[in-house]
Amino acid sequence: MRQHKLALCKDHYLEWIPEQTARFIKKYEMFTPEEKILVAVSGGKDSLALWDILTRLGYQADGLYLGLGIDGGINYSHESQRLTEKFAYENNLKLHVLDIEKEYGQSIPVLSEISHRGHGRPCAVCGLAKRHEMNRIARELGYDVLATGHNLDDEAAVLFGNTLRWSAEHILRQGPVLPGADGLARKVKPLCRFYEREMTAYSILRGIEYIYEECPFAEGSQSIFYKEALNQLETARPGAKLIYYLGFLEARKSGNLFVEKNERHAQLHPCPKCGQPTSAPELCSFCRMIEKAVSEV
Ligand code: AMP
Ligand code: FES
Ligand code: ZN
Repeated sequence: MRQHKLALCKDHYLEWIPEQTARFIKKYEMFTPEEKILVAVSGGKDSLALWDILTRLGYQADGLYLGLGIDGGINYSHESQRLTEKFAYENNLKLHVLDIEKEYGQSIPVLSEISHRGHGRPCAVCGLAKRHEMNRIARELGYDVLATGHNLDDEAAVLFGNTLRWSAEHILRQGPVLPGADGLARKVKPLCRFYEREMTAYSILRGIEYIYEECPFAEGSQSIFYKEALNQLETARPGAKLIYYLGFLEARKSGNLFVEKNERHAQLHPCPKCGQPTSAPELCSFCRMIEKAVSEV
């Protein structure tokens, strides 16, 4: 893990991931050991890994799988449901399954065609249905909190998209915890500080069988394009993605995002040497640099 300057063997890696997750859960005050967690499980590596980690940490975590009715030539929904059920069965975990078509009469692709949202792609309709049903089920079944498997790559890509549009409303709502409100379950993302490849490594090393394919409708999507752009940045500057996301969380926490501030100017005074404005207590940084250079010659 270049970003942490850390290399671990299999055994230590499999301990490190849950330890870090426990740390994030505490740091962002996601939930307590007494609370009941509903994990939204898609059959992909992230959400299955999340369920595995929370269970290993001793939390009371049940699963929720939503059948979306997506085939795409690879039997996507069928296969992801099978793998989710297999994981639940093998680990003796409780899984709720809800099929959108059985519940509402139409699958996601058909609902999308009917409503024409998302310009041909069903992703907008799908996202809407998932958010609606996850929240409804979490509340109806009395869970304290809803957990999803979003990782750092997901969160950084969303943040990147939001900052390209300077969508303040969306930016300010993004984060590891979305507090509960009237009728809305608290939502948490315990894996939001792990790189996608860290989750892949975890799932493989734990022997978790997950669906490798992305949703067939995701191909060519904007979020994949943003992920690729950030991956290029990450290759050139290891850790860039993490710094980008953590820097955002820090700025938001300190209240420095989107707040107009003129204080900087108020604190300036003339440098005693050159007379140009500076915020440094004595000489401005340019004069200090020159003084240092002269003294070292
Ligand atoms: P995605 O929006 O597909 O990137 O998925 C983000 C997270 O939403 C996953 O990590 C899961 O926690 C959850 N999720 C996605 N699809 C499903 C599904 N069909 N059933 C339950 N949870 C899902
Ligand atoms: Fe919903 Fe792809 S359209 S998972
Ligand atoms: Zn509604």
